[in-house]
Amino acid sequence: MTRKIAPSLLAADFAHLQRDIEMVNHSEADWFHLDVMDGVFVPNISFGMPVIKAIAQHAHKTLDVHLMIVDPDRYINTFIDLGANVLTVHYEACAHLHRTIQAIKANGAKAGVALNPHTSVDLLEDCITEIDLVCIMSVNPGFGGQSFIENTYDKVSRLKTLIHKKNTNTLIQIDGGVHSGNAKRLVEVGANVLVAGSFVFNSENPTVTIANLKKEIS
Ligand code: DX5
Ligand code: ZN
Repeated sequence: MTRKIAPSLLAADFAHLQRDIEMVNHSEADWFHLDVMDGVFVPNISFGMPVIKAIAQHAHKTLDVHLMIVDPDRYINTFIDLGANVLTVHYEACAHLHRTIQAIKANGAKAGVALNPHTSVDLLEDCITEIDLVCIMSVNPGFGGQSFIENTYDKVSRLKTLIHKKNTNTLIQIDGGVHSGNAKRLVEVGANVLVAGSFVFNSENPTVTIANLKKEIS
């Protein structure tokens, strides 16, 4: 089973961004997770195209771009042209989710759909076979460093059941509040990709923290 760690650069030191990108390049991490926030869909603004362009020039691993923006259809081409390999939109931000997923894939990226903590996995029943990755938000999106919501384990199990029932190989990603105390249980219930921001970048030795997380989930 695929088990990956995706450090979120939201928690990196933006004054030393290249240094932190190189740390991830040389670590056991699998993906870069990039959080784009618009101050409308979520109450915070993070970074946009110029920063992603700069990151893409130095990052040598999969770029997993998480769009926390309204009307993401307007920017699908733009983010894929900038280097997004996985492009994730929010279920709650898409009136025509099926069309959005098709547009992401037609532009050459893997299509991800993120679910806020209050959004049921059952709502994906009719399009799960089209989705490459479901990102289960284990915090309310908008900020790093929040506490993990315990209901996430149950949500992962229910999504895993749906994925099996539909015989598809959609990946399950967990985003928010991931740390060494919940990583193992998350993969045991079915998670494939764990995003970790502050737990990695606020630690004394991020490279070792990533290696330890990988060990926890292997
Ligand atoms: C939250 C973002 C997350 C965030 C995770 O809205 O989507 O990716 O960076 O940060 P931590 O791991 O600190 O909860
Ligand atoms: Zn994220």
